[in-house]
Amino acid sequence: METNTQRLLHTFAALADLGQEIADTGDFEEMLRASFHLLLGSLAIRRGAVGEYDRERGELRLIAARGLGESPELVLPLASERARHLASLGSSLTLDEARSEAGNFLEDHKDAFASVEIDLLVPLVVRERLIGAVLLGEKATGEKFTEEDLQIVGALARHIGVGIHSHRLLEEVEHKAEENRRLYEGLRAIYKETVHAFAAAIDIKDRYTQGHSVRVGKYSEIIARELGWSDDAVEGIAIAGYLHDIGKLIVDLNVINSPERFNAKESKEMSRHPAAGYEILAPISHPYADIPLMARYHHERLDGNGYPDGLKGDEIPPGAKIVTLADSFDAMTTDRPYRKRLALVDVLADFRANTGTQFEPAVVCAFCRAFLKEIEGTSKEKRLMKLLGKNYEDVESVSPLLTQLISDLDGGAMAATASSH
Ligand SMILES: [Fe+2]
Repeated sequence: METNTQRLLHTFAALADLGQEIADTGDFEEMLRASFHLLLGSLAIRRGAVGEYDRERGELRLIAARGLGESPELVLPLASERARHLASLGSSLTLDEARSEAGNFLEDHKDAFASVEIDLLVPLVVRERLIGAVLLGEKATGEKFTEEDLQIVGALARHIGVGIHSHRLLEEVEHKAEENRRLYEGLRAIYKETVHAFAAAIDIKDRYTQGHSVRVGKYSEIIARELGWSDDAVEGIAIAGYLHDIGKLIVDLNVINSPERFNAKESKEMSRHPAAGYEILAPISHPYADIPLMARYHHERLDGNGYPDGLKGDEIPPGAKIVTLADSFDAMTTDRPYRKRLALVDVLADFRANTGTQFEPAVVCAFCRAFLKEIEGTSKEKRLMKLLGKNYEDVESVSPLLTQLISDLDGGAMAATASSH
């Protein structure tokens, strides 16, 4: 009896360790086989099997087997009434019940177990549901099973049952999480495609500013990245750039495509577009915050002389300040019907003249740094230079100007100008 107790204690300790490993996602079936062999070993049983019940298919799939002859079939049908009956018996059934269920099982699967003796069947049950079953042959000693033996088997079987159950639950949760992730990715892709379609629609309406929205999105992205924004925030600002002029969709087509500078009436009509853009974008729940506000405020100025709300300084959201600069840069570097694009020297002079009044110094500084890095070849991609295209071949020549502007901005000389307003 003493050795029996020791053996049992040993078995339970080993099973406790296995329980831990079963819960891990490692080689689950290998762990299961190990715990099953432990069960056989604890009572010196020669042969047996452990099977997992698949409720949907009505099958018992043998996961581990020992001494069951050449080719015990791995998957055996198990009728749902039989499964319900086994679940009602639970893992603490009587010896008679375990014997008679073994008999029923052999009867049902005569072909698979023609020459194999199975003495006991112990169901694996968790929360009143059948998880699987343990099939056991005779003991090596030839002794009969006792009620006490069955209690031990029942305890180990419950352990294995819980192991299988929690592993499958974990798998299911992971599967669901993966499914959700894919759904989310899908939605994100649809959102982005929609945004691009809108950007294209805006740009088609305005035939003089072809590709403007997409370029503003890209310039905004470059600036935000230089400012150290997170990946998500950078993605958000790019979208804000693509959509910033969406309000132009409601502006009179003739005004937008007027070949001359706007008169007062046309200017008024045109200046409706930031607020209109906000109205269009606000009802949509965007995956990134503040996209409608960036559209609304991309014509605001630090000095409060912008529109539509005349916000000042830090009342303007940081994203809108970025889009403002990106928008102006693209406007100055592309031809308009009433004027040619500006030379880079003049663009930078405009930046210098308007930083602190129209543009945020930190944003101008970030733009210049990103530009300079491309010219000096310290950034991997030349995105800015690619966007400027063939129209600007003398890009390298502005590097001293950029350096000077950065140093003036860093020194705070221009921030002082901003605060004096
Ligand atoms: Fe605009």
